[in-house]
Amino acid sequence: MHPLAVELNRTLEGTVAGDLLSDLGRRLYFPKGIVAQSAEAKKYAKRMNATIGIAYRGGRPMYLGSIRSLLDKLEPEEIFPYAPTQGLEPLRELWKQELLKKNPDLAGASFSMPLVVPGLTAGIATLADLFAGPGVPVVLPDLHWDNYPLVFDTRREARLVTYPFYAAGGGFNVAGMAGALRDAGREGRVVLLLNFPNNPTGYSPTKAEAEAIVAAVRDTARSGARILALTDDAYFGLFYEPDTFTQSLFARFCGLDERVLAAKVDGSTKEDLTWGFRTGFVTLGAKGLGEAHYEALTRKLMGAVRSSVSNSSMLAQSVVLRAVRSPSYEREKREAYEALRERYARVKAILAGRKSDVLEPLPFNSGYFMSFRLAKGKAEDLRRELLMQDGVGTIAIDERVLRVAFSSVDVADLEALFDLVYAAADRVAARA
Ligand SMILES: Cc1ncc(COP(=O)(O)O)c(C=O)c1O
Repeated sequence: MHPLAVELNRTLEGTVAGDLLSDLGRRLYFPKGIVAQSAEAKKYAKRMNATIGIAYRGGRPMYLGSIRSLLDKLEPEEIFPYAPTQGLEPLRELWKQELLKKNPDLAGASFSMPLVVPGLTAGIATLADLFAGPGVPVVLPDLHWDNYPLVFDTRREARLVTYPFYAAGGGFNVAGMAGALRDAGREGRVVLLLNFPNNPTGYSPTKAEAEAIVAAVRDTARSGARILALTDDAYFGLFYEPDTFTQSLFARFCGLDERVLAAKVDGSTKEDLTWGFRTGFVTLGAKGLGEAHYEALTRKLMGAVRSSVSNSSMLAQSVVLRAVRSPSYEREKREAYEALRERYARVKAILAGRKSDVLEPLPFNSGYFMSFRLAKGKAEDLRRELLMQDGVGTIAIDERVLRVAFSSVDVADLEALFDLVYAAADRVAARA
């Protein structure tokens, strides 16, 4: 093992993070190579800096005018050079402040400086590198984003353990989650993967359900298991009902127990409507961890980033940084939120007026999506029927569940959309 990895492992020894590291996680380190040496040179090489593979002229990055002319509000330094592996420091700092604003329960909690990754997917994959490996149980609901199996199972050979998303009464199945976590936790270590607002259901826990989730995690931790509590907060902020828990569960997991390592993956992707920018963040927190531990973990995360994608887009980070600093940022985000909330309210009203023996709308209160469960016929048949007969695109999640992204349909078209869905479902059911 590389001596730098040995050193980081020594720093993390005896902590939940050290206990949870995968074999790859233990091997990871951030080399004192080109990137580290050139970061040092940036500070001290006052005469000439001949370190990094970037072309400079007269102390400024060289560039093509055809690219520069498209981006004339930004300085060349904000566009062309590499960004640091960990991301732009002012953006990391600002995102940390934003986390505190959005999650009042984080006040006083111990957590790391967010590390920039090229989108949430990269954040999840990086955490999987560090903490998931062959056979490690990953507890997640049956209705989940289809990329999780690819990241955790296909890439990392972890073992997915699912439970039904909904309780019999219709809310989040906290008891199912708690049971799966408790059972998997008997193996000593477990990854708990939570995603609210959820893809594909569009459901987020109520305040009471959130408390029950936190209690279940605490109970399993107290039974001796080490837990990586990973919250995928891709759709954070899109909460539409008053009784919904509107913070990230990360805020509650951070200070919960010495055996719980909280990991938050979030980003500009959906929060700032910058889907193609590839700007996400990974933040870690646990009771009992201090600066030296967070620094060691950041080094390991940086090793995972450096060895896969190297760094995230400078241009995208610069634009996001300017946007978050802009005086109109909050107002513009509010406008986007209101547009989605209007669609949500419209969908709720449309569904309230329908009766069907075939389609059951599953409970939803947040985010981009809602899903139907089919009592008759297959979701894939319904998807194809809608696509081929009506020119309407939807997603078949499994045999029986069809996802509709109301986020991507104008409010004026929603009534027609659901007319088509219900009519197609009847045709599919009649043939089943
Ligand atoms: C639950 C969830 N997590 C993560 C992502 C991906 O985010 P990013 O595009 O930033 O990788 C998505 C996108 O669809 C998602 O639905």
